[in-house]
Amino acid sequence: MVLKTIPALQSDYQMQDYDKLAATFDWKEAEKAFSWYETGKVNIAHEAVDRHADSFRKNKVALYYKDGSRNETYTFGDLKKKSNKAANVLKNYSTLEKGDRIFVFMPRSPELYFALLGALKIGAIVGPLFEAFMEGAVYDRLDDSDAKAIVTTPELLDRIPVDRLPNLETVFVVGDEVSEEGKVISFSKHFEKASNDFEVEWLERESPTLLHYTSGSTGKPKGVLHVQEAMVQQLQTAKWVLDLREEDVFWCTADPGWVTGTAYGIFGPLLAGTTNLIVGGRFSTDSWYGAIEEFGVSVWYSAPTAFRMLMGAGSAAMEGHDLSSLRHILSVGEPLNPEVVRWGMETFNMRIHDTWWMTETGAQMICNFGSLPLKPGSMGKPVPGIEAAIVDDQGNVLPPNRMGNLALKKGWPAMMRAIWNNPEKYDSYFLNGEWYVSGDSAYMDEDGYFFFQGRVDDVIMTSGERVGPFEIESKLIEHPAIVEAGVIGKPDPVRGEIIKAFIALHDGYEPTDELKEEIRQFVKKELAGHAAPREIEFKDKLPKTRSGKIMRRVLKAWELDLPTGDLSTMED
Ligand code: WT7
Repeated sequence: MVLKTIPALQSDYQMQDYDKLAATFDWKEAEKAFSWYETGKVNIAHEAVDRHADSFRKNKVALYYKDGSRNETYTFGDLKKKSNKAANVLKNYSTLEKGDRIFVFMPRSPELYFALLGALKIGAIVGPLFEAFMEGAVYDRLDDSDAKAIVTTPELLDRIPVDRLPNLETVFVVGDEVSEEGKVISFSKHFEKASNDFEVEWLERESPTLLHYTSGSTGKPKGVLHVQEAMVQQLQTAKWVLDLREEDVFWCTADPGWVTGTAYGIFGPLLAGTTNLIVGGRFSTDSWYGAIEEFGVSVWYSAPTAFRMLMGAGSAAMEGHDLSSLRHILSVGEPLNPEVVRWGMETFNMRIHDTWWMTETGAQMICNFGSLPLKPGSMGKPVPGIEAAIVDDQGNVLPPNRMGNLALKKGWPAMMRAIWNNPEKYDSYFLNGEWYVSGDSAYMDEDGYFFFQGRVDDVIMTSGERVGPFEIESKLIEHPAIVEAGVIGKPDPVRGEIIKAFIALHDGYEPTDELKEEIRQFVKKELAGHAAPREIEFKDKLPKTRSGKIMRRVLKAWELDLPTGDLSTMED
């Protein structure tokens, strides 16, 4: 389906002239928005919360929170006090110091925000962990980063293998009736009594803030390290791309366990002094449309997979909901199908703006701005201040309409600064020390719009979540029945891709449906629900290179009935 270009928005006021900005903008201009520009004292939690709490926004709502029976409102003034309390608890009941790693492993809730912001106030490095992670996944991340503390809930406590993590000193548990034994400290009990005041730890612009673990096609998940400086780009994109205004109510549907949920579920909007909505619980059409109506959401940031589910539910699901508060809709995580853009136009009479970026980029990079005509199927143009190009494997820039590696000129403010404990891996992202190579393939048209084509590597994007095949394969072969396993992403109309596993069994095991279910449960219990293969196919043998590497591209070709390509490296 081809959709015509949809004209620029008349009302967009944050960015009037893309071409002029793209030609002249310097990130130095954006720095003037921060108090450290004059004081030299840097802390992102201060800029996101305290600065507003100490201004005319003191009584402005910073957070609305809705989950089941909880329905709460916190002003910027409240958020300052609560994050100060959290900082005091973390400081007083652990040995955490500047630069130490603390994980936040809990469902989306105000307490998560207090703990995360409090940890940043004491200068710690925060590792957000998605609540669906199981023991194996939690262990890998805490072990790799030598975590000293974790904040969690009673329900998730069992998944933290405290005995196998000798350097993990303190486990803070949010909940009233926690017995303080061993490493366990009740966060809530001490939070009640903690002081509202806290002297923020002042840091450098290059001081680390967040450690987001993400998947690649090889090896265990890697820790992507971000720094304070990221705030410059997070705020600027909140203005230009999210188009946030003083009176907006902003809803980012992503969980803070993923980078979208921190960069734009916390920092971008709070840095801009915007009212945020947090909705707990699982996706349902009714609760989502209900939330937009109840809180008067005006700017909505979600993912194609969610839009496709809403689209599938049809207009009946919208009946009885007044969605007239909506003004601006954005998408991230996977290709935004023209089909969904058309649905957005028909349903909301509004454009859905695509945004392309990655955990490693730390903030939005290539986007459809309100002030640009929108070409359905394209993710838009680079954010002013960002240089993007399509390069070949040697780093030569290719002309328009040629497919190649989507690359970014090194040095933007929110760029990751390290892969934890793995400088070789970090270096491997860069070509000629100049281009960051994203792992996506794309092309750029003659008007400078970028079009996503696919991943260059085997990374799987399922329902907007990034999953590394290697992590699942490694887990699968821990199962006693499995000799070897190959995992691929299989295209799916709703989820983008689903996870499919090809499995060879040990002698004596029968390839039954019960065994498939057992294997699925095994991955679910050990890694995470979203990592469990939806489809499993048993094979006598898997295609491998002579050096023993599973050839996923051959599995994929079999699955999709495509030519298998060069098989010269395949063993007999
Ligand atoms: C990968 C990064 C931070 C964004 C959430 C995912 C894919 C991301 C788009 C888009 C097509 C997209 C890419 C990228 N991706 N946005 N607008 N169109 N693909 O972050 O988990 O680090 O995954 O997500 O393949 O490399 P992530």
